[in-house]
Amino acid sequence: MTERVTLVEVGPRDGLQNEARQIPASDKIALVDLLSATGLTRIEVTSFVSPRWVPQLADAAEVMAGIARRPGVVYSALTPNLRGYQAARASGADAVAVFAAASESFSRRNINAGIDESLARFAPVIDAARADGIPVRGYVSCVTECPYEGAVAPAAVADVAHRLIAMGAGEVSLGETLGRATPEQVDAMLAAVLDEVPVDRLAGHFHDTAGRALENIDVALAHGLRVFDAAAGGLGGCPYAPGAAGNVATEAVARFLAQRGFGTGLDEGGLERAADFARSLREDHDGLATDPA
Ligand code: HMG
Ligand code: MG
Repeated sequence: MTERVTLVEVGPRDGLQNEARQIPASDKIALVDLLSATGLTRIEVTSFVSPRWVPQLADAAEVMAGIARRPGVVYSALTPNLRGYQAARASGADAVAVFAAASESFSRRNINAGIDESLARFAPVIDAARADGIPVRGYVSCVTECPYEGAVAPAAVADVAHRLIAMGAGEVSLGETLGRATPEQVDAMLAAVLDEVPVDRLAGHFHDTAGRALENIDVALAHGLRVFDAAAGGLGGCPYAPGAAGNVATEAVARFLAQRGFGTGLDEGGLERAADFARSLREDHDGLATDPA
């Protein structure tokens, strides 16, 4: 039997959060609806974050209200604090994600809190979600390199991943935020994380600045990971990771996995249509954001 790999589509959130042009909510809704028709079972739609920090996603509630929900698809949102969680729930999010980092400096730039403080902020979000029966994912950013501190120790990644799981996160997504990791770095990082967290609780989240994301996914597959994040059309980047390019493209990962003999349940033509539309929303810009703090 073909072994299954699950792709988590993060394009509407990670893909669009960094776009300089304000994309109309109707276009974001159209993108999610196209993605819903491709066989994807998990779509990260938006973030309930401060509109001063991420202006592009200030329309989170409008987008959530406008999408056509397909049965069997889990529509999720990022929630940095209880306020974000409550707004996400009110909008009908099926799942939420908190987002930590393995680097102190990135954590402060991204969410205005160090690692320990950020985890303390996430605790009530995770508790509330569990009480409501809502799946919670925890991200760990900068799993190999931080834009402000350079190389990140694998042990630091393992520590944050373990703490998120111990707090009650159902899954941890390992964010290679800069998209410049080598397969050797990913291998060493995963070896450390897998000492602390079972493989079926992990997802890989690779940006593709250096064009090695598929190789890195291959390394993660060899370690047993079976959940990967990707963005249609390869859009994206974090506003607080200057110079980082988009996520690995969903359509490229789907093709790669098929070549490797894994099943994804995704419709190639539908993914190409979604990717074309996603790319049409994009505008050239330098990928930099100004820290509003
Ligand atoms: P803060 O300044 O410490 O928080 O920011 P605060 O509580 O003092 O609030 C500041 C302002 O935000 C206030 O408004 C609050 O009302 C408002 P003001 O008085 O300035 O008008 N506020 C909110 N508004 C809407 N929804 C909320 C909310 N909370 C506060 N939930 C905070 C802390 C976390 C809010 C801020 O830093 C923030 O929103 N950061 C978001 C950054 C972000 O979204 N980054 C991108 C996602 S992470 C990523 O891309 C990496 C990933 O893809 C993995 C990888 O690639 O590595 C996941
Ligand atoms: Mg990302």
